Amino acid sequence: MIRPMEARDKDAVLGLVRATGFFTEAEVAVAEELVDIYLGRPEQTDYRVVVVENDARGVAGYMTWGPTPLAEDAYDLYWMAVAPAEQGKGRGKELVRWLEAEVRRRDGRVVFIETSSQPKYHATRRFYIDLGYKEVARVPDFYRAGDDRVIYAKYHR
Ligand SMILES: CC(C)(COP(=O)(O)OP(=O)(O)OC[C@H]1O[C@@H](n2cnc3c(N)ncnc32)[C@H](O)[C@@H]1OP(=O)(O)O)[C@@H](O)C(=O)NCCC(=O)NCCS
Repeated sequence: MIRPMEARDKDAVLGLVRATGFFTEAEVAVAEELVDIYLGRPEQTDYRVVVVENDARGVAGYMTWGPTPLAEDAYDLYWMAVAPAEQGKGRGKELVRWLEAEVRRRDGRVVFIETSSQPKYHATRRFYIDLGYKEVARVPDFYRAGDDRVIYAKYHR
């Protein structure tokens, strides 16, 4: 079950982001900033956040997405994470498929996702590729020396 994030979900969302062990404290701070923009400024439409629940109605994962600035009918999947105990159960796939349905509903053209080339993101890149995303660009040494920014896209029209 996927629903818009609410203020009561904040601790669970930041907790699962940390629990993945994938993100530095600086990255967690950026995740929190996006969540705070979404929760605190209901009039803005740049960042939207949804959560996916487990069978017990607990927060299993979340995703931040929004229209790509300055690009026509394009959408960014900014951030997603699924709690370690909930990974591999299809929750991540459910979130991406939900976004694609939403993009089609808005007659969107393309979804972009960016990630890191670090080996620890191998399963993450595999996850996007399996969902039909193609690597369309790579910025060498973007995050740090030896850590490229990898850009994936899936075109819907
Ligand atoms: C990447 C991520 C969001 C995927 O979510 P998920 O709920 O584990 O993914 P799903 O269960 O929908 O898995 C879909 C496929 O990905 C694979 N997969 C990716 N990461 C996996 C993991 N950690 N454990 C098990 N399977 C994983 C599975 O093989 C699965 O394939 P299948 O459906 O053919 O069996 C999640 O693993 C995660 O939060 N990772 C750490 C943080 C991260 O990388 N976020 C993205 C930053 S760009």
